[in-house]
Amino acid sequence: VTTAFYLGRTPRSSSRRKRRYPSVPRRYLVCEPRYFDVRYAINPWMREDAPVDTALALAQWQNLIAAYRAHGHTVETVQPVPGLPDMVFAANSALVVGGRVLGSNFHAEQRRPESAEYETWFKSAGFDVQRPESVCEGEGDLVPVGRYVLAGTGFRTTREAHAEAQEFFGVPFIGLRLVDPYFYHLDTALFALNDREGDGNIAYYPEAFSAGSREVLAHLFPDAILATRDDAMAFGLNSVSDGRHVFVAPQATGLVDRLAERGYVPVPVDLSEFHKAGGGIKCCTQEIRS
Ligand code: ARG
Repeated sequence: VTTAFYLGRTPRSSSRRKRRYPSVPRRYLVCEPRYFDVRYAINPWMREDAPVDTALALAQWQNLIAAYRAHGHTVETVQPVPGLPDMVFAANSALVVGGRVLGSNFHAEQRRPESAEYETWFKSAGFDVQRPESVCEGEGDLVPVGRYVLAGTGFRTTREAHAEAQEFFGVPFIGLRLVDPYFYHLDTALFALNDREGDGNIAYYPEAFSAGSREVLAHLFPDAILATRDDAMAFGLNSVSDGRHVFVAPQATGLVDRLAERGYVPVPVDLSEFHKAGGGIKCCTQEIRS
């Protein structure tokens, strides 16, 4: 306590102590996996010869929606479209902060028609939609935390898109370079544990980032939870947190333990069928921040 007084800040050890975090009700947009499949390969997880069990995928997805609702969150749905097997990954469709919607502009040609479908939904829900000129895959690469938006690049969303998005939202964007093709979207390597309290906090897999980006993350988030490669490969970092409950892949056993140690409440939801397309819980979830 004396040290804290002299330094004018909380010593790290005390902020790392287990505490009870409050949860904040969220508004999520999702898309039923009625036409979900792996029909092309645009990331290393996708194999056209590995069949998807559509019925199992649907059941897993329904469990996720039920878990969100059971924890007090609002869930809205956009109609799935035949011929768009990745449309279930709603997180890639936009970034919504303060009621402003920046739409998407997909890297892969196969996914480009999804942008208009989501844009139509947002317009019908009363939002204006700004279309990005550069390749921009929404919350897949853009993660709001505290005062900043963390912005991934390297495989999909470009630096030009970060600049466009910063101009649109008027919030500082922190560019981070992804270097491992298994973690081609920022939301496969990092998620926000707390996005609204002070500077917020995150969990991430350091090796997914360039050396400089790792330093940036260590500097901004000294209390982050660091995940192992096993947890990251189990889609543990493709999690959704409401500040208290963390909807997380049960296969990420190390991370599940670490979350509980730090005072979060892990809510395991198995989306294994979606891992075949390179997606998990967060990929299926677009947050609408008013
Ligand atoms: N098959 C999709 C793709 O490669 C998966 C997208 C996963 N979404 C995400 N937010 N990481 O584009």
